[in-house]
Amino acid sequence: MKKFDLVITKGTIVTASDIFQADLAIQGDKIAAIGPSLAPFGNRLMDAGGKYLFPGGIDVHTHLDMPSGGIVTSDDFYTGTVAAACGGTTTIIDFANQSPGESLEETVDIWHRKAEGKAVIDYSFHITVCDMRDSVFNEIPDMIRRGYPSFKLFTTYDGLRVEDGVLIRALKQTREHGGIVCVHAENHHMIQYLVKELLTEGKTAPQYHALSRPALAEQEAVARVIRLGQLVEAPIYIVHLSSREALGEISRARREGLPVMAETCPQYLLLSDKYYLEPDFQGAKYVMSPPLRPWESQEELWKGIAGGAIQVVATDHCPYNYKGQKDLGREAFNRIPNGSPGIEARMSLIYNYGINEQIIDLCKYVEITATNPAKIFGLYPQKGTLGVGSDADIIIFDPNLEKTISKDLLHERVDYTPYQGMEVKGYPVATIARGELIVEEGRFIGKQGRGNFLRRSHPVVL
Ligand code: URP
Ligand code: ZN
Ligand code: ZN
Ligand code: ZN
Repeated sequence: MKKFDLVITKGTIVTASDIFQADLAIQGDKIAAIGPSLAPFGNRLMDAGGKYLFPGGIDVHTHLDMPSGGIVTSDDFYTGTVAAACGGTTTIIDFANQSPGESLEETVDIWHRKAEGKAVIDYSFHITVCDMRDSVFNEIPDMIRRGYPSFKLFTTYDGLRVEDGVLIRALKQTREHGGIVCVHAENHHMIQYLVKELLTEGKTAPQYHALSRPALAEQEAVARVIRLGQLVEAPIYIVHLSSREALGEISRARREGLPVMAETCPQYLLLSDKYYLEPDFQGAKYVMSPPLRPWESQEELWKGIAGGAIQVVATDHCPYNYKGQKDLGREAFNRIPNGSPGIEARMSLIYNYGINEQIIDLCKYVEITATNPAKIFGLYPQKGTLGVGSDADIIIFDPNLEKTISKDLLHERVDYTPYQGMEVKGYPVATIARGELIVEEGRFIGKQGRGNFLRRSHPVVL
């Protein structure tokens, strides 16, 4: 009998559908066997007694090395993916942002150069399109064929947003070629109006960021985008859903049988708009769009996850240093760079607040952090589950390990974490990526550049 490279023994294996105790054998970069008593067949053994084996986390919403308004997000593809790996994430899908005038081909080339030789976990790219001229529109089928089947469009931000007519055409084009459109949905004109009013009244502090982008603006845009999709029978994926009002629109659409999906993020599940009131401009740390909401929204978003209206929890990791970057908005909230870090703490935070608080069960946890992201974005079953033939992307997770989230615990290259001081029970103790142990006891031991680009297949509607 040929021996396996590695057998992980006595762990409790969790997938989106099953929980059972078994040994798991790895050969090369794949899972080769799952079953009882595989230890005699392992060249190397790892004991996972009392621990869970989860599929490696998949974070489908990150912004690494992203230029915006003269500054760049503080994590690049090395530091950002090291942090991801330490937190139990083994795959990311980053947003490759088109600059005006660029072809999509040029956009992805730029992003490949950022990631190659740096990423330590596997990665793929969505393409953010801001300039949908005819030649760009005509590139969509080819980009889908080449493994970039998802596109992000914005309904807000000058320079990024597209009009409804562009959205309709893009939705139809992607649907016809087996792709999907992801939308950042907030009503631009409502926001523009409110920003002007607030600034005119001298209201420049970070707390007014939230008032300038009310849930109503998100709700209106989500509802509109859903109906644009309905017109051309296209699937829709709403990114970073933040409010119970917008969730209501998602739930209604799904009850009507429309192919509408939604992602939320730890910040919208765990933090509220009260954080904007922190003194000394600290509120700027939480300036992101959409903004944090009142507590009622957090409760409803968790229910949305438990009930299935929300399929994915991703991070929208968009790190800017408080000193020197967030600082740019001291004079006016609308000049604070939008975004917060979160790539590393997601798996633990969602475990602690989802499982320990008994809002979701273990299968649902795996579903929203790995399986659904893989299915929706064309990576399943290579990624997103623990099954024979799948990539050996595995986290060994200790449900009893207690940590306090802090800037010093995390590996993110940014001078704060919005989760500072939060106490969690449950943390990854080892991360295995394509069969290789890359994080042990919170220490990254893999090689820079070991991550591979993932060419993705067609999205699935859940
Ligand atoms: O404020 C945010 N979310 N910044 C990141 C870019 C985006 O809109 O996803
Ligand atoms: Zn085609
Ligand atoms: Zn966005
Ligand atoms: Zn984002």
